[in-house]
This record gives sequence, C-alpha cells and structure tokens, in this order.
Amino acid sequence: MSGIVIRNGQVVTALDQYVADIYCDGGKIVAIGERLDVPAGTEVVDASGQYVFPGGIDAHTHMELPFMGTVSSDDFFTGTAAGVAGGTTTIIDFIIPSRNQSLIEARDFWMNNAKKACADYGFHMAVTWYGEQVEQEMRRVHREDGISSFKVFMAYTGAIGVDDDEMIGVIDTAADLGALVTAHCEHGLAVQALQRKLVAQGKTAPRYHAESRPSWVEGEATNRAIMLAKCSGQPIYIVHLTCKESLDAVVRARQEGQLVYVETCPQYLLLDDSVYDKPDFEGAAYVMSPPIRPKGHQDALWHALSCGLIHHVATDHCPFRQHDQKVMGLHDFTRIPNGAAGIENRMALMYTYGVAAGRLTLQQLVDVCCTQPAKIFGLYPRKGAIRVGSDADLFVYDPAARSTISASTHRQRVDRNIFEGFEIRGAVTNTVVAGKLAFTNGDLRVERGAGRYLHRT
Ligand code: URP
Ligand code: ZN
Ligand code: ZN
Ligand code: ZN
Repeated sequence: MSGIVIRNGQVVTALDQYVADIYCDGGKIVAIGERLDVPAGTEVVDASGQYVFPGGIDAHTHMELPFMGTVSSDDFFTGTAAGVAGGTTTIIDFIIPSRNQSLIEARDFWMNNAKKACADYGFHMAVTWYGEQVEQEMRRVHREDGISSFKVFMAYTGAIGVDDDEMIGVIDTAADLGALVTAHCEHGLAVQALQRKLVAQGKTAPRYHAESRPSWVEGEATNRAIMLAKCSGQPIYIVHLTCKESLDAVVRARQEGQLVYVETCPQYLLLDDSVYDKPDFEGAAYVMSPPIRPKGHQDALWHALSCGLIHHVATDHCPFRQHDQKVMGLHDFTRIPNGAAGIENRMALMYTYGVAAGRLTLQQLVDVCCTQPAKIFGLYPRKGAIRVGSDADLFVYDPAARSTISASTHRQRVDRNIFEGFEIRGAVTNTVVAGKLAFTNGDLRVERGAGRYLHRT
C-alpha cells in the first residue's frame, strides 16, 4: 500500500474552506477534488463531518535542550511524536551554542540529536556571542544548512544572552545574508538586579520569578530590539511576546512602516499570574521566561491576534519534570529550570479558545498555526499549505469530540501539564506525516528517525 486518501472532509486553509478529497502519494499531495478516483489499495481516511487542516508548524521548540543545569525532558523523538498526536507535523527548534562555542560544533551536536525526530524539523541558529569567527560561521550555516533565521537572547545575561553591541553585529550579518533575526526580549541586567533584591529579602518562592521579570522588562527590550533592527533597516521577529508594553512598541513600529513579526504562545493567551499562587511549589511548573502575566494582558494578545498584529502562535515547548528538575529551585526561584510543555495541546487549545470561542475564524487558526510560520521561515508552500505538490502533512479534526487536558493522559514526557483541567472542544483524529498515517484515533504510529531536516530559504 502506498497512497492515502482523506475523503469528504471540510478542507480548511488560510484562505478557503471547501469539501474535497485529498489524495497523497510519494509523500506529497497529488490531487484535490470531489470523489477522486484512486488506485486500488489506497488507504482511506473518512473525514466526513470533520475539518482537514494543513499540518501544524511550531516554529519555537526546545527538544533535549541543555539548559540551567539540566536537559529539557522531551527528546526529538518524544517531542515530535507528542506534536503529531496534537496535529503538529513540523517544528523549528534552536541550535544554542554556549558562549564562545563554535556555531559549527553546536550545529553538529543538535543535528545529531535531531536525527531521531519522527516529523520534519528545521533549526534557527541562536547567536550567543559575536566576533569575526561567529560572523563567518553564520555565513557558513546559512550556506551549508539553509539556516535562514538567527536568534538572540536579550535575557540570560552572562550565559547565552548577548549585549546590544553583539546584537547589532548579528543583525548586520543577517541583513547581509537576507536572513531574519528573532529575539527573546527581556532586559537581562534588569532581571538580574530584581532577582538579587528579591532573593536578598528571602523571597525565593516560584511567584517571585514573575516579580523579577515584570512586563516593562519585556516591553523595554522589545522596543530596543525593534530600534536596533530599524538602525540596520531590517525586519525583526519577536519570539514569545506576552504583554501590552511589547504590543505598544510593535504598533508604534508598524505605524511607521517597519516590518515586525510577532509570535505568542497559548500559555500567554490562556493563563494569568494567579498560577504562581498554587501551593506546594506547584507554581514552579509555570516558571518560564517571560512569565505568565497578570490579568489584562491576555485580552490584549487575543485582540492583537484577531487583528493580524500577531503572526504566529508557537509553543516554546521546553518541558522540565517537576519531581527531579523543577525542584532544583525549591529554595531559590532563580534555579528553577525555565520552560514548560505545550506542543501536544496547541492546535486543540487554539481551536477551542480561539475558533469555538468566537475569537478567531478557522482561516485565522490555520494562518497563525500553519501558514504564516511557513511563509516567514522559508518553508512555504512545501509546508503550511494544502495544494498539489505540497508535502502530505495534514491533520483531521473532529469538532464534535470533547476531552479534558491532563498530564495523566498526555504524551509529552513531563509530569505536569500547565493546561491541566482545560476543557477541549474537538479532537485530532488523524495526522498524516509525509503521506503516512502517523496518528489515527488515539493510535500513534510514528517512526523514530522518519523526520527530515529542512533546508530553508
Ligand atoms: O522559559 C523558557 N522560555 N525556556 C526556554 C528558553 C527560552 O527562553 O525560550
Ligand atoms: Zn525565550
Ligand atoms: Zn486592532
Ligand atoms: Zn524558547
């Protein structure tokens, strides 16, 4: 058996919606139409009454990331498998060299780890220091590996963070290459000063993580990133934007005609900082950077998403187990590994709390979760589209299903789910990855190592 046909679903793209069959063979979509004739032996998925979406693209994940004295707990296999169960068929992860490490050496390490992925993957290259060598290595990974996006951390000063001078160097080199710079925007030195003050006052519980990184810390850095990009006449992509102050900076720049791309994540749309009030160190599960914001910011993000100011909803999937990883910071929030899982739940959360709640159209859902990340990061129309010739990465979503998110049933390799108890409308029933049925009615049939590395343009 080779081909597969998805019959009679409501095909949804960023622009369209229509009932059709989709026939896939050789890993590609080869025909779209009504009542398609297909060869005998073709596998059939009946999608009547269900939606058929392009496979989700998550342009912000951290599989098996060495970070804060430990390693994120999903590897490239378990993390992409959880993604497939949730309708995500492509990730763009980050190669993150340590300060003074060769970008090439880091590349080789990450590329080797990623060979176990069961879905296609690309990499952004984080640039964590700058100089002649780094400039040459940026050019080399762009040329050799099709890495067309670079990432700078304005946070994590003294570790992987860069200063403004280094950041300008990265922006200028990326500009010369025609590559995009993405930025984690938090004022690293301000965070450190606030952390020192809080810890000195004995304020060491998880909730002080949020106090050490207030929204103005992010807004300041977002504005600075935008200004540094402007200084080089370049667009910039803001990762995991969470707050009104940052949106204000983006709106200002866009009104002046500067191209600023914006990403947010479901946790910033759906949670507020009351999560840090949970007893018994449970707040640690929500320790991520930037932190979950006070009430009010979430509505601003939803509005920005619905009016097109936010381009992509990624996850920043970066799980750490509560019982042996988050506890590293039991007596000092600055030592709690920063990050949480989310890749498995993104599409269902965005359908439920976006589309079903009347905040997004189906087309907007596809646009922000599938199509725009493909366009921005050089994967379109191979990915992010349902058209003849595109990769056969699709998922089928049954809007009638109901479920509740729980760490006890999720596939992410972590013992907490930050969306525990969230009710979900609809469910991913089938996921097709490179023309193969990799998930069907709860049965995960992914193949370790089947994912391919994506050169980007
Ligand atoms: O807390 C987070 N977000 N951890 C992952 C690294 C990053 O800053 O994206
Ligand atoms: Zn970040
Ligand atoms: Zn608006
Ligand atoms: Zn991240």
